[in-house]
Amino acid sequence: MTDDEATSRRDDEAAAETEQDTGPATAVPDPAEIRRIGLANALREVTAPLHRRAEKAGVISDIVRGRSSRAAYTLLLRNLHAVYEAIERGLERHRDTPAVRLIVRPEIYRADAIARDVETLCGSAAAARAVPLLPEGRAYAAAVAESAEGDGIRLIGHAYTRYLGDLSGGQTVSQVLAKTLGLDVGMRNLYRFAGIDGLEAYKDDYRAAIDRAAFETDRPDAILAEAMLAFRLNIALFWAVQEAAGGAAARTPEPAPAE
Ligand code: HEM
Repeated sequence: MTDDEATSRRDDEAAAETEQDTGPATAVPDPAEIRRIGLANALREVTAPLHRRAEKAGVISDIVRGRSSRAAYTLLLRNLHAVYEAIERGLERHRDTPAVRLIVRPEIYRADAIARDVETLCGSAAAARAVPLLPEGRAYAAAVAESAEGDGIRLIGHAYTRYLGDLSGGQTVSQVLAKTLGLDVGMRNLYRFAGIDGLEAYKDDYRAAIDRAAFETDRPDAILAEAMLAFRLNIALFWAVQEAAGGAAARTPEPAPAE
């Protein structure tokens, strides 16, 4: 792909997202309606168009199509590490706060798992520290930290977006990474939830907790809006990682076949 094509594709992406942001599909229901349909269902509904975009964005699209590289994936992880640190710091701070306390789940915290993955992928702690935090990763982590201010309920939108994603499509991504980049288990801790028997039952329980949270705040609509923001921050990060890592691995010349 030429630079012009890449720019035009990104413009299309931005235009499509603007369309969806203003369209009825992503209109945020009012608090009574959210409680009636369930906050978890409402989250799934309002973020569905953004989920489709996220699957096709930058480095995630490359990974799914087997066109990424270890360097790009490592860069993604390093940036997500900052995000999970902010989410988990916020959750700990709010472990006794109404609504948020319902989704404080240390057993699924991911920051330590990601730190281990980055170090294994880099080969040493020093090399891991040299992987840069991109402006988009910094902005995402800052938005999470900001959402933890006050009653912290917007953190629920961030936790939903990342943890349910890791527990769902993340499991497929893990298999793709093993197959296409040869990542062994020590590099895929992000997707391993040791100590949880049955991810489906766990996800159901997590969704039920999210539903209950809507009854402990008068602003469940703010959680929906924050989840939409979280998806957009992910999408921006996925494109930025692809760009910083030099685009899809397929765009770099293949090594010459051995004679
Ligand atoms: C790599 C591409 C991806 C694939 C193939 C994928 C696939 C899926 C699938 C099949 C589900 C449904 C699971 C179920 O109903 O139990 C799901 C759910 C979910 N995914 Fe993804 N996903 C991808 C990327 C992402 C990304 C990048 C994010 C967020 C940044 C994300 C966030 C979520 C969330 C929050 C849910 C839970 C939806 C709900 O039940 O409310 N996914 N994903």
